[in-house]
Amino acid sequence: MPIHSSPTGWVLETRNTAYAIGINEVGLLTHRYWGARLPFVDDYPAPFKTTNFASTDGPHHFVPEEYPGYAGTKYIDPCLKVIFADEVRDVVLVYEDFKVTASSSPTLDLRLKDSFYPLHVTLHYRIHEEYDLIERWVTLENLGDDPILVERVFSAKLTLPPGADYSLTHMYGSWSNEFQMQREALTPGLKVIESRSIISSHRANPWFAVDRNASEENGEVWFGTLAWSGNHKITAEVTEFASTRISIGLNDWDFAWKLMPKQPFVTPASISGYTQSGFGAASRIFHDYVRDEIIPHGKVLHKILYNSWEATLFSVDEASQSKLAEIAAQMGVELFVMDDGWFHGRNWDNAGLGDWWPDEIKFPNGLTGLIQNVNALGMDFGLWVEPEMVNPDSDLYRAHPDWVIHFPTRVRTESRNQLILNMARTDVQEYILSVLDKLLADHNIAFIKWDMNRGVSEPGWADAPGDQRELWVRYVQGVYHVWGTLRERHPNVIWQSCASGGGRADFGILQFADQIWTSDNTEATSRLRIQEGYSQFLPANTMEAWVTDWGKDTVPLEFRFHVSMCGSLGVGGNLLEWDQADRESAANCIRLYKDIRQVIQFGDQFRLISSQKNNFSAVQYLSKDKAEGVLFVFRTHIPERFNIPTIYLRGLEPDALYTVEGFDQPRSGKAWMEAGLTVELKNLQSKVLRISHT
Ligand code: DGJ
Repeated sequence: MPIHSSPTGWVLETRNTAYAIGINEVGLLTHRYWGARLPFVDDYPAPFKTTNFASTDGPHHFVPEEYPGYAGTKYIDPCLKVIFADEVRDVVLVYEDFKVTASSSPTLDLRLKDSFYPLHVTLHYRIHEEYDLIERWVTLENLGDDPILVERVFSAKLTLPPGADYSLTHMYGSWSNEFQMQREALTPGLKVIESRSIISSHRANPWFAVDRNASEENGEVWFGTLAWSGNHKITAEVTEFASTRISIGLNDWDFAWKLMPKQPFVTPASISGYTQSGFGAASRIFHDYVRDEIIPHGKVLHKILYNSWEATLFSVDEASQSKLAEIAAQMGVELFVMDDGWFHGRNWDNAGLGDWWPDEIKFPNGLTGLIQNVNALGMDFGLWVEPEMVNPDSDLYRAHPDWVIHFPTRVRTESRNQLILNMARTDVQEYILSVLDKLLADHNIAFIKWDMNRGVSEPGWADAPGDQRELWVRYVQGVYHVWGTLRERHPNVIWQSCASGGGRADFGILQFADQIWTSDNTEATSRLRIQEGYSQFLPANTMEAWVTDWGKDTVPLEFRFHVSMCGSLGVGGNLLEWDQADRESAANCIRLYKDIRQVIQFGDQFRLISSQKNNFSAVQYLSKDKAEGVLFVFRTHIPERFNIPTIYLRGLEPDALYTVEGFDQPRSGKAWMEAGLTVELKNLQSKVLRISHT
């Protein structure tokens, strides 16, 4: 059992790591240790002692309380902030008892309660031993008769070992420029990474990595994420006593939750881990965990899809889509997805959202004809929807103008001519459920791309059952409810999450969606950078990547294919304009991808030369049994006289013999890893080289 408990201390062990908590001499639940697993349970440090340094600082600036409520002299960043019915804004948590539940992923529950008020707080820890991960979340319970207003409730505080010199890596971005990495020194003060737009956002991903001089291959990295598709917050705090702590959870900005008697509030889960093998290992841990434990069809190879968006925009009908489908099928595509434009009144982005039935002019006989054509070509059929949205010019909005998120006294700010349905409302949930359920029941649809194309404004909810500010959380719960119900009713459908590209890429949405549309930026050279950021916490099989016409005058088709083959390959160009040579070249790439996708989608990924830092980059995928691999090499632009960098392969069996395509002589795994190889490329050239065990 990886949980060792005594009356005053707990040690949680995974295969290589450990996390320890304990109660100190004044009864405070403190963090003790997070790092490499130690030989003996008694090896782990004792709880920090509560010592007062000066009257200007509370002891909590030095003593790392495991889950601090805002109270007393805690000027640190707390995890919990509440207002009791008598307006006392001070929560003093005392340890009550614990419970261990045995299972393949055992859990420890530490129960705390306020020293005076009937507020109970349970800290949950679930051990994913084989993945070196610990999942943490919190349950609040009000055992009294009066509501308690919760203003902040994080999922976890994660304390780093005492010392300085930590760096924080996080990802920021914008539409068309998602997953940009930023690494910076952690210095005294508070760094905040957050989303405020009701989705996990392009702006800031709910992911962090803290390291002490780590590289891609070596060094200590503490990393984590929040399984939540709404407003999140990660804070990195270094106190004046060099105590470094990360907090992770729901964003408390504009948040409140009226905790009613006997109605628990459960936070989303955080998942965090530790490795001594650098950023690459941290990513591979998350990749395995997502594929094995989170996504619904983790073991299913993703089909090569064609998506109509960039080719036809809103101008879709049976004839034009069938023509595209014919060409796609000839190239080897397996799934044909019709994007936006197919539903009632949808000729541009200013009308139709909400009216989810086939447009009577574009599809006078419904969608069945097109679906049959696609199926007859040997492909599955997929469809685009944007269920959370409504255009004011739609039957739905005319019937239910009150269903959108709004303040009655304010202008409803439109973005892309649309408003957001209040998914927290049960009537809205029921409507979306019924129309999508009917769509799926009436048609042979194998794939749905669920889009979400704007951030919130005027976040009001006049008839909210509790505090209006619960909207931020109840909205996401509503999306999960609708999506989860549809998944249960149509278990074979593969879903893709899209939010103007990669605006909703998180472990929360991956419970429902097997894939994420990575970015609307399909220009291959920028895409390389976006994909590398994405790979920090999400695996290649979830990363949908289309080959389009963007950049076609400068970037060769083969290069564009190679970039997209690093994830779940798709095609999104206007095939009607591709000449025979393009189509043949595409067919060759698709054939190759079919041969190697098992390794790409389910193997280990090694970022050999970073595309965010270099204009010559390389990424390798290796099967779990280390027998087969693929090396992708890209040269975007380096001046001619610069040396081609040496590429050092990774993860191979050191003593086994491997061949790398293009190199005559087999060499040991150790030789490919230590002596490396070079691949001669001109600017805007790329190569895919297969690696095999001889
Ligand atoms: C935004 C998505 O990111 C695109 O791929 C496309 O589906 C459009 N929406 C359609 O409106």
